[in-house]
Amino acid sequence: MSNPFTVSLVCWHDGELLLRAIREAVFIREQGVPAELEWDEIDATCRHALALSLSGDAVGCGRILPNGHIGRISVMPQWRKQKVGTAIMEALLNEARSRDYKIVDVDAQTHAVPFYESFGFIRQGKEFMDAGLLHVKMKLELKPH
Ligand SMILES: CC(C)(COP(=O)(O)OP(=O)(O)OC[C@H]1O[C@@H](n2cnc3c(N)ncnc32)[C@H](O)[C@@H]1OP(=O)(O)O)[C@@H](O)C(=O)NCCC(=O)NCCS
Repeated sequence: MSNPFTVSLVCWHDGELLLRAIREAVFIREQGVPAELEWDEIDATCRHALALSLSGDAVGCGRILPNGHIGRISVMPQWRKQKVGTAIMEALLNEARSRDYKIVDVDAQTHAVPFYESFGFIRQGKEFMDAGLLHVKMKLELKPH
């Protein structure tokens, strides 16, 4: 059975410490993304999904921008393949629906394309490099629940 966790939506001010810990571990240390590219002023304008273990450990996160762009989806290595990423995406997609967004998009790392396809995202255009990693744009049209 998968380990239990909770996902909540937080602002950057409230979640910063834990959000930083996850993204530092996953993007900066594991994937080699330069710190100056990882941290931006956009975080303060986003709604963030934060997954925590029942003992309060940081497990995973993601963010949605005011323009419907979803990004920084990350799950700590020991928590992968247990549907944490799915729960984070569902929280962000619900937020997008509640704001009446008609479409959301991601810049998907190519290895994660099947993950985004599992929500119905469709690839758009050619692959491109960002922060030293191969990406492709993907879009999802939202239907109301
Ligand atoms: C991508 C990531 C967020 C997925 O999180 P996760 O919690 O492991 O994903 P889930 O358990 O919810 O997986 C849901 C589905 O996505 C797909 N999937 C997940 N990880 C995948 C991977 N590495 N490769 C291919 N498909 C994957 C599978 O279809 C999976 O369904 P299944 O379990 O029935 O096979 C996680 O692997 C991660 O943090 N990777 C490092 C950071 C990263 O690359 N983020 C994406 C930036 S664009």
